[in-house]
Amino acid sequence: MNVRLVLAEPTRHATPLLVVPLYEDDEDLPELHGSLDALFEGVVSRARSAGDLMGRVQDSLVAYGSGDGPGPSRLLVLGAGKREAQDAESIRRLAGKAVRAAERLKLDRVTLWLEAGGAATDPAVVAQAGVEGAVLAGWEYRELKTREDESQEEEAPHACVETVEVAGGGDPDALKRGMEVGAVLARAENFARTLQSRPGNVATPTHLADVAAALAEKLPLEVRVLGPEELKSESMHALLAVSQGSEEEPRLIVMTYRGSEADQPPLALVGKGLTFDAGGISLKPASGMEDMKFDMSGGAAVIAAMGGIAELKLPVNVVGIVPSSENLPSGSALKPGDVIPTREGKSVEVVNTDAEGRLILADALSYARSLSPSAIVDCATLTGACVIALGHDASGVLGTDEGLVQELRDAGDRSGERCWPLPLWKEYGKQLESTVADLKNVGGRAAGTVTAASFLKAFVGDCPWAHLDIAGTAYGEGKLSYQRKGALGVPTRLLLEWVRGRAG
Ligand code: BES
Ligand code: ZN
Ligand code: ZN
Repeated sequence: MNVRLVLAEPTRHATPLLVVPLYEDDEDLPELHGSLDALFEGVVSRARSAGDLMGRVQDSLVAYGSGDGPGPSRLLVLGAGKREAQDAESIRRLAGKAVRAAERLKLDRVTLWLEAGGAATDPAVVAQAGVEGAVLAGWEYRELKTREDESQEEEAPHACVETVEVAGGGDPDALKRGMEVGAVLARAENFARTLQSRPGNVATPTHLADVAAALAEKLPLEVRVLGPEELKSESMHALLAVSQGSEEEPRLIVMTYRGSEADQPPLALVGKGLTFDAGGISLKPASGMEDMKFDMSGGAAVIAAMGGIAELKLPVNVVGIVPSSENLPSGSALKPGDVIPTREGKSVEVVNTDAEGRLILADALSYARSLSPSAIVDCATLTGACVIALGHDASGVLGTDEGLVQELRDAGDRSGERCWPLPLWKEYGKQLESTVADLKNVGGRAAGTVTAASFLKAFVGDCPWAHLDIAGTAYGEGKLSYQRKGALGVPTRLLLEWVRGRAG
């Protein structure tokens, strides 16, 4: 989707659809709405007098112009709620609705008028959020469909909006800056969504590594891929153990971005890239197992975020690390009760082979730490328990550094990809004590998200580290206007906002 800034007066700008917000707490029709009302023969004020168009979030009105003159041929007024309650997320949702409306009307272009207000006063923030909502809404996974299914057309209109134009008050340079950032963030998230959507037979560990290598061809990134031999020399026995039941080879993908001096310690992003989680010998139930293709969502977000960081040319060093494997049952698979060594040297008793994410992450975190980063953030579809604790509206965040956890919460608020803290007190570590090894990989049913994070903590040493459990947020129903059912791309924009914050 192309994004363009429009400086012309909206009433005189030729567009198939102009979308303007109407706020609930604006007593009189604002000046722009007044002139649009005149252009569209009083339809806005009539709808207002009827009490139908009061600016409530569910209110909307579509009107058709006479066709004479250069202005918009259609007008969509969208209720935007209270102006004082506006924030970046409400703008994203509004922009998503604008694109959905244009899709339904089968238009290839839409013009969106945005206004500052509430918590979103900076025109750059307003424009960024507007473009994010629009570009995210325009994404759809179509790679594997071979024909248009007419019976489904009504329910799933094909995205056909090619251009989004943004107009609005405020400094055009600030608007432009915000739009550029918004486009990079949303395109990165859409890329993560595409990778997530690819089924397990397409998105194998090798495929993810190839995708990362292809990114490095186009962007200032270096990619190193470790296969079975290199993993052996790196003593990454936990990643190898998870992969041993599978025909597909494991990979450790290491992406390096240098945006600052060589002696500056990097930030490390680590993402779980489990391309299909059947549970291994501790096999999962069949129902819903197909969703376990999404178990590489953390890895997809890290690969996509690294691309976004390079596109934004952020002045900071960042390394992205994705351990990637399948988790399948077979005659050569890891068994419950097996004890395995790890890169860190600690031995692990594998009580349940379905708790595999923490095993591959243990080696990846240990590898990350060997690069002496200033902070490590990992993201992983790690526990069903996190879905029970927080549902689908927040990721869990846990870490060894309170400042870092707070930074991630702030980045979550800015991006709309919110996360909420759970405790990581040492008492929880007791649940992981093993009679035969240094620790076991499962700590029982109680506090499942916390004990999973406690396990990871054993592999980060004293490096400031935080973990995002995205089991409930990375994919799902896609209820927001800028989402579709399936892959959601979370937490790509959260990671990018965090790195942007660190870059200053
Ligand atoms: N990939 C799953 C976690 C998951 C569950 C992600 C639901 C998305 C939705 C993970 O590998 C897993 O199987 N975890 C187990 C751990 C248990 C065996 C201690 C779980 O959460 O049930
Ligand atoms: Zn599992
Ligand atoms: Zn898993």
